Amino acid sequence: MENQLKPSPQMIMQVGNGFWASKILLTAVYFELFTHLSQQGSMSGSAIKSTLKLNCTDRHLFDFLDVLTSFGFLNRTGLLENAKYSNSIDTDTFLDKNKPSYIGGVLEMMNNRLYGFWGNLGEALTTGKAQNETSKDEKPFFEVLYENSDLLKEFTNAMTGVQLRNFMALAQKFDFSKYNTLLDAGGSAGVLSLMVAKHNLHMQCNTFDLPPVESIANETIKKFQLDDRVRAISGDFFEEELPKADVVAMGNILHDWNEETKIKLIQKAYDALPEGGAFIAIEALIDNDRKENAFGMMMSLNMLIETSDGFDYTFNDFNRWTKKIGFKSTTILPLTGPSSAAIAYK
Ligand SMILES: C[S@@+](CC[C@H](N)C(=O)[O-])C[C@H]1O[C@@H](n2cnc3c(N)ncnc32)[C@H](O)[C@@H]1O
Repeated sequence: MENQLKPSPQMIMQVGNGFWASKILLTAVYFELFTHLSQQGSMSGSAIKSTLKLNCTDRHLFDFLDVLTSFGFLNRTGLLENAKYSNSIDTDTFLDKNKPSYIGGVLEMMNNRLYGFWGNLGEALTTGKAQNETSKDEKPFFEVLYENSDLLKEFTNAMTGVQLRNFMALAQKFDFSKYNTLLDAGGSAGVLSLMVAKHNLHMQCNTFDLPPVESIANETIKKFQLDDRVRAISGDFFEEELPKADVVAMGNILHDWNEETKIKLIQKAYDALPEGGAFIAIEALIDNDRKENAFGMMMSLNMLIETSDGFDYTFNDFNRWTKKIGFKSTTILPLTGPSSAAIAYK
C-alpha cells in the first residue's frame, strides 16, 4: 500500500519517450533488417552496415543494434566490432518478410503513414478532424487510399499484419460445425476466409470488399490453393445487400464508422443471416470499465486520425446495438492479445 502511494516518474518517462522505442523498431522493419538476418543467420555490425547502406558512425550503428538487442528483438554474441547479431525467435517468426507468418505490414504502414499523422494528435483532438491523406482531399478515406496502388497494397498488408493471428484463433476456437457458409464483409486480402476454410474443411467462404481489393484477395486465395472453397466478391456494403451466409464476419469494420453507420452495418449482417446464424465482429474490443485495454482505446484514437468519427467500442456497446436490431443472444470470445470476437446470434 505504501509503495502504491509513493510517486514514481518511471511510467511517465517510459510512455513519454515511447516514440523513441517505437521508431527504432519501425526503422529496423523499414530497413528489412530482420529479413536480412533471417537469410544470413547471423551478421556482424559492419556487414549489416554495408547491407543496409548506412552512413552513420559505427558507434551509432551499435547503439541501434544493441538497443534492439536490449528490447529482445535481436540476439548478440560478442561486443561492438566482435559482435554477431541474429534474430530473436519472435522477430524471426513475425518480421521475416519471406515467411507467411510475417506481420510487419502493419509496422511498415505505421512507419510510412501513421507515425507522421500521429504527430497531429493534438490537432485531431482540437478540431475533431482526421489527420491523414484525407485532410488535403475531401474525398472519403477508402477512395483516397485506393486511388494509389502502393497505398492500397500497403493498407491490405497492414490489415493482414494486425489480424492474422486473430483470424487463426477464431478459425480454431469458434464452433463452425453447425454452419456451412461464411461471408467476411470488408474482408481485405481474404485472410479470415482462408483461415476458416483451412481449419474447417466443410466451410464455403466468400470474402467481400470494394472492387480495387478483389485482385489482391484473388492472389492470396491462389497462394493458399483454396479457390474451390474461398471466393472473392466485389461490392459496396453501403450500396447493396450483403450476400446471404450462415456466419457474417466483420473484422475491424465497425470501428471505422460512427454509431449510426455501425448500426446500419449490423442490420445488413442481420438481414443476410438465417435464424440461428452468427454475426462476428473481430476487433480490439475495449473492456466495459474502459480501464484495461489501452490498445483498444489507442486504436479508437487511431480511428480519429484516420476517419474522424470512427471509434472502438465495448462489449456492452455491441450488446446494445445488436439487441436493438433483434439478435437473440451475444457472447465474447477472446482471441489474441487485446483482440476479441464479439458474437451475436440471430
Ligand atoms: C479496417 S479494414 C479491415 C479489413 C479486414 N476485415 C481486417 O479485419 O483486417 C476495412 C475494410 O473495409 C473495406 N471497405 C470499406 N468500405 C467498404 C464498402 N463500402 N464496401 C465493402 N468494403 C468496404 C475496406 O476496403 C477494407 O478492406
